[in-house]
Amino acid sequence: TNMNIGIDKLHFFTPHVYVDMEELAEARDVEPAKFTIGLGQTQQAVAPLTQDPVSMAANAAWPILTAEDKEAIDFIIVGSESGVDQSKAMAVHVHQLLGINPFARAIEMKEACYAATVGLQTAVSHIARHPESKVLVIATDIARYGLNTSGESTQGAGAVAMLISKDPRVAVINDDAVSYTGDIYDFWRPNYSTYAKVDGKFSNEQYLSYLETVWTEYKKRTNKTLADFKALAFHLPYSKMGLKGLRQLLPEVDEAKQAALTEQFEASRVYNKRVGNIYTGSLYLSLISLLDQSQNLEAGDTIGLYSYGSGAVGEFFSITLVEGFKDMLADESHQAMLDNRVQLSVADYELIFQEELPTDGSQLVLSEDEEQFQLAGVEGHKRLYK
Ligand code: CAA
Repeated sequence: TNMNIGIDKLHFFTPHVYVDMEELAEARDVEPAKFTIGLGQTQQAVAPLTQDPVSMAANAAWPILTAEDKEAIDFIIVGSESGVDQSKAMAVHVHQLLGINPFARAIEMKEACYAATVGLQTAVSHIARHPESKVLVIATDIARYGLNTSGESTQGAGAVAMLISKDPRVAVINDDAVSYTGDIYDFWRPNYSTYAKVDGKFSNEQYLSYLETVWTEYKKRTNKTLADFKALAFHLPYSKMGLKGLRQLLPEVDEAKQAALTEQFEASRVYNKRVGNIYTGSLYLSLISLLDQSQNLEAGDTIGLYSYGSGAVGEFFSITLVEGFKDMLADESHQAMLDNRVQLSVADYELIFQEELPTDGSQLVLSEDEEQFQLAGVEGHKRLYK
């Protein structure tokens, strides 16, 4: 097919409270520069009980959907590793909350932080066969390692929503993805654990090793070089990780190009530095940051994306910006959402972090928060939203 299919609109959501990384460092008796420079994180989003992965997904999507979109969407894909049920897909709740066409499919996909990428590729295949339809792809997660753990500095919460269609107004998703799968334990979360297990150093090594593998194969299959890309966007578990990935590739181009790609990288991590890791959404939050914050992207520019999901699957693919993409960006509302957040003390963050929903079927009614959608409570092992 020579049909253009890709991202028509995109938007993110993060809860309204955060903890400052310098304050967290002091509370943990760590040099603040380790978090702000060593990891490249300045703030960390915190999810109160009222904002679970379902409500965050709906909050990310509703501002970009028109009545016409809701009628045209016939497939909702939610990528997540923070599922709230082993059977029921979060996409079913999201479908109801957003008022999508009832004759739609709704599923949840999982492979650690990679799931939304396969969601995008699945959406493209679906539209190739059903050109008039639109697909809503959402990445939503809460990254939790636990208080006083080595992973605590790389937590975060948020969601990214992308509307996929033919003749997209932001970017065409090119048919060039190279994926690579290997069975490893670098980061995982057994069903009985609310916290992730991680082999931190090994996970960093594997992230870079999978990048090397898919990038080498990508160049072989496409005959492209790093010079063909105006910018790159990386999965950012913490923003320094992407810088390590970038530095691995930079020796392939001259110094002027190295400086240009590094400048684009800085734009691509502005939002992630202030949100933290949102797992499936991190790469797409970085893409949004790049599009919103970069001063020198133009229609026709190609952006390379590196997706990495522990366990592990790596994928390199590209998108090409289309005429008028700047008019489709929600840069002002994204900036306002981040700027209007409330800072928590470390003590208050710890209290919120330890709040739990009952697991015995008893009722809990949560107080109202200021977001469009929220978890209203639980009763009889069911989640209730408003
Ligand atoms: N000033 C400046 N930098 C400092 C510093 C200071 N005072 N003190 C330390 N640093 C630097 C260190 O040199 C190091 O940088 P380099 O890696 O570039 O050398 C950086 O700060 C971190 O220091 P450590 O490695 O000692 O930190 P740590 O032991 O606390 O572990 C971590 C860091 C492994 C990322 C840990 O937070 C973790 O396990 N996080 C979760 C796992 C993760 O995010 N893995 C990423 C790859 S896997 C993936 O991508 C999937 C996913 O989303 C989870």
